[in-house]
Amino acid sequence: MQANKIAITSAPIAPVLAERWSPRSFKKDYLLTQDEALSILEAARWAPSANNIQPWRFAYISRVDPIHKEISEKGLSGFNQAWAPDASALIVVIAQINLPDGRENTGRHYDAGLAASMILVQAQELGLHTHHIGGIVHGEIAKTLKLDDNHEVLVAIAVGKVAPAEQLQGPAFEREIAPRVRLTLDEIIVHGKP
Ligand SMILES: Cc1cc2nc3c(=O)[nH]c(=O)nc-3n(C[C@H](O)[C@H](O)[C@H](O)COP(=O)(O)O)c2cc1C
Repeated sequence: MQANKIAITSAPIAPVLAERWSPRSFKKDYLLTQDEALSILEAARWAPSANNIQPWRFAYISRVDPIHKEISEKGLSGFNQAWAPDASALIVVIAQINLPDGRENTGRHYDAGLAASMILVQAQELGLHTHHIGGIVHGEIAKTLKLDDNHEVLVAIAVGKVAPAEQLQGPAFEREIAPRVRLTLDEIIVHGKP
C-alpha cells in the first residue's frame, strides 16, 4: 500500500509543497544519481541568508559511502536507526557558528533551516522524498565528519525513493499510513485576517 499523503489544504499551494511528506519507508535498492544529488545540494546553495553569509555546510553520505555504517550505527537515535539507513543518502546539515570576524552568527540556525527547506522542495520536484531527523547523536556525527569547534551539527535528512508502507512494522507502519495533520491557519496567524 502506498499511503496517500497529499496535504488537504485550505487554500491552493504549489503541488510540490502539497505532495511533500516525510516517509520512513524508502526503496533499499535505490541510489541517487549524481545529477539528483547535485541538484538537491545546488538548491540549498541558492537559499537566502542574512548578509549572504551562507553559514550552512552539508555532508552528503550516500548509502554506499564508507562512513554510512558508522553514521547510521552511532549517529542516529534508536528509532531512527530502524528506518533511516535504508534511504539512498543522509544529508547532514551543519551550521558554521562564527562570522568571519569571530563574532557568533546568531542567525545561523534560521539560515540553515531555509537551506534545508530548499533541499526538501528540490528533492520532491525530482520525484524523491526526504525525512528530517532531529533524533541524532550530534557529537558522534561531528566526530565521524571530523568537524572543528566552529561547526555545529543540526540535523540529518534522509533522501530517497518512497517504498510501500508495508516495508515497516509496528508503530512505524501506523505512522506511515496516518493522515497528515496541521494546525489551522487561524491558529498560526497571530495578526491580520487575509
Ligand atoms: C527538525 C525536525 C526533526 C525531526 N526529527 C525526526 C526524527 O528524529 N525522527 C522521525 O521519524 N521524524 C522526524 N521528523 C519528521 C517530523 O515528525 C515530520 O516532519 C512531521 O511529523 C510532519 O510530517 P510531514 O513532514 O510528513 O508533513 C523531524 C522533522 C523536523 C523538521
